[in-house]
Amino acid sequence: MGSCGCGGGAHFSRSRVLLLVFCLLGLISLSCAARLSVSRQKLEVQKHLNRLNKPAVKSIESPDGDIIDCVHMSHQPAFDHPYLKDHKIQMRPSYHPEGRVFDDSKASTESKERKNPVTQLWHVNDKCPEGTIPIRRTKEDDVLRASSVKRYGRKKHRAIPQPRSADPDLINESGHQHAIAYVEGDKYYGAKATINVWEPKIQQPNEFSLSQLWILGGSFGQDLNSIEAGWQVSPDLYGDNNTRLFTYWTSDAYQATGCYNLLCSGFIQINSEIAMGASISPVSGFRNSQYDISILVWKDPKEGHWWMQFGNDYVLGYWPSFLFSYLADSASMIEWGGEVVNSEPDGRHTSTQMGSGRFPEEGFGKASYFRNIQVVDSSNNLKAPKGIGTFTEKSNCYDVQTGNNGDWGHYFYYGGPGRNENCP
Ligand SMILES: *[C@@H]1O[C@H](CO)[C@@H](O)[C@H](O)[C@H]1NC(C)=O
Ligand SMILES: *[C@@H]1O[C@H](CO)[C@@H](O)[C@H](O)[C@H]1NC(C)=O
Repeated sequence: MGSCGCGGGAHFSRSRVLLLVFCLLGLISLSCAARLSVSRQKLEVQKHLNRLNKPAVKSIESPDGDIIDCVHMSHQPAFDHPYLKDHKIQMRPSYHPEGRVFDDSKASTESKERKNPVTQLWHVNDKCPEGTIPIRRTKEDDVLRASSVKRYGRKKHRAIPQPRSADPDLINESGHQHAIAYVEGDKYYGAKATINVWEPKIQQPNEFSLSQLWILGGSFGQDLNSIEAGWQVSPDLYGDNNTRLFTYWTSDAYQATGCYNLLCSGFIQINSEIAMGASISPVSGFRNSQYDISILVWKDPKEGHWWMQFGNDYVLGYWPSFLFSYLADSASMIEWGGEVVNSEPDGRHTSTQMGSGRFPEEGFGKASYFRNIQVVDSSNNLKAPKGIGTFTEKSNCYDVQTGNNGDWGHYFYYGGPGRNENCP
């Protein structure tokens, strides 16, 4: 009340009483306005949840607290898109790229034992029926953690590594840091990689750490087209520190279009076993068992859609060609690697880890890797990438080292601890 100047006193003059009434009314309307805006926000969040969470045929609880909704394939979020109202779902790609086949079921030749395949945590409890797709249910808290309902499930602008950028301010702007390998200067119709899976430590909930491939078209200005897939740890997006499978797409440099996973209409899923955004299990341990996942994204030469495959067995679905401008034709750049957000908590570099949190020099079982990186060429074959470049903003914080051998084809180790002696 102090700011109102409503003083007390035994003897009220008429003007004091008026002032008091005025003050009380002011306070009431203030708190009413606050309450109104809270309930308006709740309503907005509820509306968004109703849009995102489709009626489920069946729901499965995952040990990590997720609810996986089995949603009839024709009721998935993609079909909220006006352009997809009459879309006929394609149940298989018309073409699957061929090339040198690497044995994806072995983590490495250095550890001869065969590993159990990497799957998703929720599988321990149940499966989704045929004809449905598994969707990680969005909870109220998930949306409330975002800066706004609109921003939920979306990347901030300019989260993309720009190896050739001449403008360091641009690179530094958003605090995103990368350690990547890339190719450019050709037309690409897809990319593949087998990615070591870890659970990097995140210092602050508003930071994240991810390992992914990028399929890029257009310029790094306003019209960048990007398709992305890999694993990520993102407390803000998921509410925990678990390593999760994710995808992303945008056709305008992260401005108005695109989102993570199935959090907007775009990607059409046909697979009933793998849920976007669900936890991956198991993850690799330091000097211990190593686990990796294979991801292949390629353009169907007949329909033009971009398909995604997880492991050897799961064709997940596709991004329809009409979502994109440049990528409706082909990609002009492919990137593979890690990204973290450095929000400089306490004014110093973040200690959020990339990859395993170890530098590339440490090698297998310690540092994280991408192996068998390949691109899809104009004859739709998987090929070794030519002229691989590397890029990192601050190699003392996170680094990358490439190599090439018989078992792993083209590979690289990447990552680091973030803050350390040489990265203060
Ligand atoms: C980013 O900012 C830091 C400090 O402000 C600077 O030393 C560095 O050169 C900048 N550019 C890059 C590419 O990291
Ligand atoms: C995630 O990890 C950080 C430390 O790395 C910890 O402070 C935080 O409590 C964890 N969050 C959850 C939801 O487990």
